[in-house]
Amino acid sequence: MCGIVGYTGSFEALGVVLEGLTRLEYRGYDSAGVSYQVSDEISVIKKEGKLQNLKDALKDQNINSSLVIGHTRWATHGVVNELNAHPHANDLISLVHNGIVENADELREVLSSEGHQFQSQTDTEVFLVLLTKVYNETKNIVEAIGKAFSMVEGNSAFVIMLKGSEKLYAVKRSAPLVCGYDQATNSSLVSSDPYALVGYSEHLFFPENEVICEATPEGKISFYELDGSESKRYESQAPSMSLDATTKGEFEHFMLKEIYEQPELIKRLTQYYLDDTGLSTLEKLKKLDINHIYIAACGTAWHAGLVIRGYIEEYANIKVTVELASEFRYKKNIFNKGDVALFISQSGETADTLACQELCSENKIPCLSIVNVKGSTLYRQCDLNFPILAGKEVGVASTKAFTQQCLVGYVMANFLADGEIKQSVRKELSELSDRIDELLVEEAKNKVIDKVAQNIYSKKGFMFTGRGPYFPIALEGALKLKEIAYVHAEGYAAGELKHGPIALIDEEMVNIALLGPELFDKALSNAQEIKARNGYVITVGQALESKNKAVANEEITLNFSGLENLKSIYANVVMQVLSYEIAKKKGTDIDKPRNLAKSVTVE
Ligand code: M6R
Repeated sequence: MCGIVGYTGSFEALGVVLEGLTRLEYRGYDSAGVSYQVSDEISVIKKEGKLQNLKDALKDQNINSSLVIGHTRWATHGVVNELNAHPHANDLISLVHNGIVENADELREVLSSEGHQFQSQTDTEVFLVLLTKVYNETKNIVEAIGKAFSMVEGNSAFVIMLKGSEKLYAVKRSAPLVCGYDQATNSSLVSSDPYALVGYSEHLFFPENEVICEATPEGKISFYELDGSESKRYESQAPSMSLDATTKGEFEHFMLKEIYEQPELIKRLTQYYLDDTGLSTLEKLKKLDINHIYIAACGTAWHAGLVIRGYIEEYANIKVTVELASEFRYKKNIFNKGDVALFISQSGETADTLACQELCSENKIPCLSIVNVKGSTLYRQCDLNFPILAGKEVGVASTKAFTQQCLVGYVMANFLADGEIKQSVRKELSELSDRIDELLVEEAKNKVIDKVAQNIYSKKGFMFTGRGPYFPIALEGALKLKEIAYVHAEGYAAGELKHGPIALIDEEMVNIALLGPELFDKALSNAQEIKARNGYVITVGQALESKNKAVANEEITLNFSGLENLKSIYANVVMQVLSYEIAKKKGTDIDKPRNLAKSVTVE
């Protein structure tokens, strides 16, 4: 969610922090701010809205400081305004925060009763006031951070600067935090994401929970326990990320660019898993005696989990339970011998998914991941990782990551079934890449999906329906549309309509009916039921015979040839383009939809 970057050193600190925040802006973008020290005085500049507003405000300021902390915010406590934006500071301490202080209200009450004042509505300021109070008592910042942090509940990371000190301090509990140093340039950095440190750090450290980091401008990083004693609880790594090319190129939005990247990415994935290092990772599955697989994920990644369940159960005959990570982490789970957990995540930083991984690890369940960001927390914490090789996904609405997640699951299911990857899988993946390519080339030329979008974008509601393998795609299509077009959209198993949602159908309700050869007649008859109630039906998939043409107000016909088991993933590309075109007509901020963030690091 929020992006945090702190820098101390001999470089131009503000530039480094702004560059880091730019790289992390996808994490949260409702306000942004920086704090810096010049002549031992702490200053803060913050702005509501996108990071550009902050950059504009800083442009003519000529700030020359070697110690800066910065933040892009995704609001949790308090409305979006300048006051609630970070950093939060007083004369003594300035800090930025990612996460939630769950007992903020109780602490605020106690601190208020002691006469402490608050300016903002945030939980972050509660920690600032608490920390300042403890520091005034102890006069030792490490001790004060340790004491104050042990009084706050919930998952958080803080980066802290102290008046008159050139050092940066940081501490975290189940929230991402990384420190790095570069002795060549005499500098240290702290961030919520290693991506901010690429190019600035020769070495990275990932502190464990409740470890305090102290970073000096000479590029030295020390670690302490909350009681102030020296700590060895951190992981040390050489940087493995590089800066992806993140320009939109000829495309108007990152989302569209990422949709168009899919044919090439499928080829990359095929090579990796069928010919390359991925195959040796798959081989390691043989060592696991798998009886049952738990899949835990959120949002689009959860939909990928539903797709993957279909593949694994059908081919490998292994029972799979797909869990919403936010539920799984809190419910009673009965773990048995032979259970394996599979976590699916683009970012590898989703708080709920990570909590499930920790839970499974504690219960000695082998943890696998299907993940995009190498070096992410999930990637570092799992026993076996299956990268999806999607490159950086910038658009908040996940597109290419979903396709790649499903395909890695498909390859994995085939391997679990046969102990190898058969050539038929290679052929199918290659056909999928070709079919998607053709569909996108055709769309760029003839705009079939765009024309459908034009006819429906102002309708009141959207019901996506599918059966069997198309049911998860219906869920995913609806999620995509609602998150970027801000319209009410629901995904339903087509057979469930008459158990309630059919009451919503009228001429202002659009039904996107996914029709593949599997369960075709059943799904068609569900579309007929909608049409009979004046719903506006758009069929996507198999061509309708002339006797059935009257069911559809519009048809998007797909060429499924050669796709065998990948038809639903192909059909999903239509969902992606359709949502994109509808959102474009509605004029929304497609790559950064309101209220959302790319990486959901709070629960
Ligand atoms: O990074 P993750 O894959 O773990 O993220 C999970 C969800 O937050 C994510 O898929 C979200 O639903 C997307 N915005 C959907 O487009």
